[in-house]
Amino acid sequence: TRGAESPPWRVLLTRRVPDSGVGALEASGQCEVQQWDSDDQIPQEELLRRVPGIHGLYCLLTDRVDAAVLDAAGPSLKVISTMSVGFDHLSLDECKKRGIRVGYTPDVLTDATAELTVGLLLATSRRLVEAAAEVKSGGWGTWKPMWMCGQGLSGSTVGVVGLGRIGMAVCERLKPFGVRRVLYTGRNPKPDAERRLDAQFLPLQGLLREADFVVVSCALTDATRGLFGREAFARMKRSAVFINVSRGLIVNQDDLYDALTSGEIAAAGLDVTTPEPLPTDHPLLSLSNCVIMPHIGSATIDTRSKMAVMTAENLLAGLRGEPMHAELKL
Ligand code: NDP
Ligand code: DGY
Repeated sequence: TRGAESPPWRVLLTRRVPDSGVGALEASGQCEVQQWDSDDQIPQEELLRRVPGIHGLYCLLTDRVDAAVLDAAGPSLKVISTMSVGFDHLSLDECKKRGIRVGYTPDVLTDATAELTVGLLLATSRRLVEAAAEVKSGGWGTWKPMWMCGQGLSGSTVGVVGLGRIGMAVCERLKPFGVRRVLYTGRNPKPDAERRLDAQFLPLQGLLREADFVVVSCALTDATRGLFGREAFARMKRSAVFINVSRGLIVNQDDLYDALTSGEIAAAGLDVTTPEPLPTDHPLLSLSNCVIMPHIGSATIDTRSKMAVMTAENLLAGLRGEPMHAELKL
């Protein structure tokens, strides 16, 4: 593997990130870092304006790194390192054509994202957001036997779409709640995971028919884009709770709205939407049976710091022509 020409390397960092990330780049003494010094996304035209001649790009999941950006950067660009495990914002084919190496941040965010997924599932199934709002608005009358009842995990069947690192970690956390069956679907059965979780592989249709909780934790690809639309919701139980922590584009949100308002499914919890942020007048936000979080799966202080450092270290390793902690196979 060849790195970039000799240092100092020109690196563009597209956002304010935890100090540990910038610190790792600076401590190397090998980089001239140019940073988009803002908590907001770098506009695409600004990204295009700043990439020419860079050797390394430290980017985020909100940056669209496509052929136009790579062309603007030119042949000096050797390494892209994204501070995310998802890589659907990067045109990997175009990176491959140009011999650009790509780093990402698996594992360090698995626990935080699994915790948030369990929290979102409980908040949705036990109607926590709706119930807390009733306390504030005066809707809490006397204790009523049938008020604010939801779906419990004990004795339930959980179906995971995409049993990868996060899907596994979610199942491991849910099992102690007394889940009876764990089902999963994906491209291939995973015998190791089946042994660890006593899980059963099913085609998507079967999983949707049988699961009380459907948890989506797969990657966004051409095969998973729009996977959850009218047909998928129609196959689910009327009591089913749908959770998505993957990417918003996996769901057709108009169809989800219809499924939630017609009673085709009981409730949905989303950590990811299309677009992000979701406009405050979006119809899904008017529903009491839909809990929406602002993409905070990996948002613990420690996790974000580890992600920032890993992104920097991947970038440096790539520029030096060394193995990265985590590199995408292109
Ligand atoms: P992994 O690669 O470990 O897991 C992804 C899983 O998706 C794999 O098991 C893969 O199966 C499966 N998959 C791929 N194609 C399909 C398909 N067509 N149908 C069903 N499953 C499929 O990644 P992680 O678990 O680390 O992360 C998963 C995703 O979660 C990320 O890509 C990202 O989009 C999202 N994420 C969201 C966060 C948040 O803040 N909400 C935080 C972190 C991640 P196979 O092994 O067979 O390829
Ligand atoms: C990712 O890493 O892909 C998440 O969406 C944010 O941590």
